[in-house]
Amino acid sequence: MPILNAPDSVPTVQQAARRLADGGLVAFPTETVYGLGGDAENPDAIARIYAAKGRPADHPVIVHVAPQANIDYWVRSVPKEARILIKAFWPGPLTLILPRAAHIPPAVSGGQDSVGLRCPSHPVAQALLCEFARLKPHGEGGVAAPSANKFGQVSPTRASHVRAEFSELGPEQLMVLEGGQSDVGIESTIVDLSRLDQGVGPVLLRPGHISAAHIGQLLGVELSRPDTAAPRVSGSLKAHYAPRTPLALLPLDVLLQQAQEHSRVGAHDGKQRIAAVVFQAPDTLLAGVDWIAASADPQVYARNLYALLRRLDDGRYTRILLEQPPQEAAWQAVNDRIGRAAAAFN
Ligand code: TXA
Ligand code: MG
Repeated sequence: MPILNAPDSVPTVQQAARRLADGGLVAFPTETVYGLGGDAENPDAIARIYAAKGRPADHPVIVHVAPQANIDYWVRSVPKEARILIKAFWPGPLTLILPRAAHIPPAVSGGQDSVGLRCPSHPVAQALLCEFARLKPHGEGGVAAPSANKFGQVSPTRASHVRAEFSELGPEQLMVLEGGQSDVGIESTIVDLSRLDQGVGPVLLRPGHISAAHIGQLLGVELSRPDTAAPRVSGSLKAHYAPRTPLALLPLDVLLQQAQEHSRVGAHDGKQRIAAVVFQAPDTLLAGVDWIAASADPQVYARNLYALLRRLDDGRYTRILLEQPPQEAAWQAVNDRIGRAAAAFN
């Protein structure tokens, strides 16, 4: 059905797929975070992604594929472990690192011998991937896409975040597809299956919404943590996912002490405000402290986390204090992200 009176500023999936086929950049929604996409088989498009993000060229990007994609096209061999996980979790927030097929340009994996593959469940992402695959005369139509943020910064979970992050790029340089708020809110779980033939793995490179326990249960092994020879994951840098405002991750008692201290010393001129994100706001009000209630449900916390950090990062606060969530498996992915955000200020 034709879309009548679609304003020029809202691109359609067809226009976006055409842009990708021409080697351009398209930001698109996924269920985890928004991605900054380019044709995975076009090294110039990959170079454009790196330039826009300000990311080192030796960092690999994930190749996003449509549900009906032929995985064998991208990889040298598909181990049975990959088939099990694909059947269980795709489309969805799981990225698999597999041995890269020789004809796939190494630029997409930062020169490494592997390739990261993910089939997103977001309907707009799927529509884009299907349309792009249809346009490609050769190849399978994979879209290379890191999270659509500047290197080291907070990932975007809404189209407006992407536009704010890349405000220097006009619509000619970056097309942004709308897709509402990302439901999961944090990046996909990454499992490395690229070294199974060397007796290594499966390895959990990045925790996410799909838990290590669930994956391990299906594979009948416990996932190991990355060793020094594991593929590099930029999200695994100690400091990452950081807002600009200094952020500290603190147990509740320490957080309350620091908030009281701040209130006594710094708040009097009204300029030195801090934001304190806690599971239960205290009854007493403190001058210069804004209390923000966090969800006790780790999935809801994850969904809102990056939007909250962006909101708190608008210059109103001199510091952000986050109450440390429980050290439990259900909180592993959230603890990973906020731990790295805090590490940027250690
Ligand atoms: O949820 C997600 O995964 C989002 C959405 C857009 O799909 N993407 C995302 O991309 O988080 P990015 O680039 O911000 O993080 C992807 C991570 C990086 O840390 C990268 O190092 C790792 O995946 N990665 C990609 N390909 C890899 C490979 N061949 N070997 C090892 N790590 C790889
Ligand atoms: Mg990222």
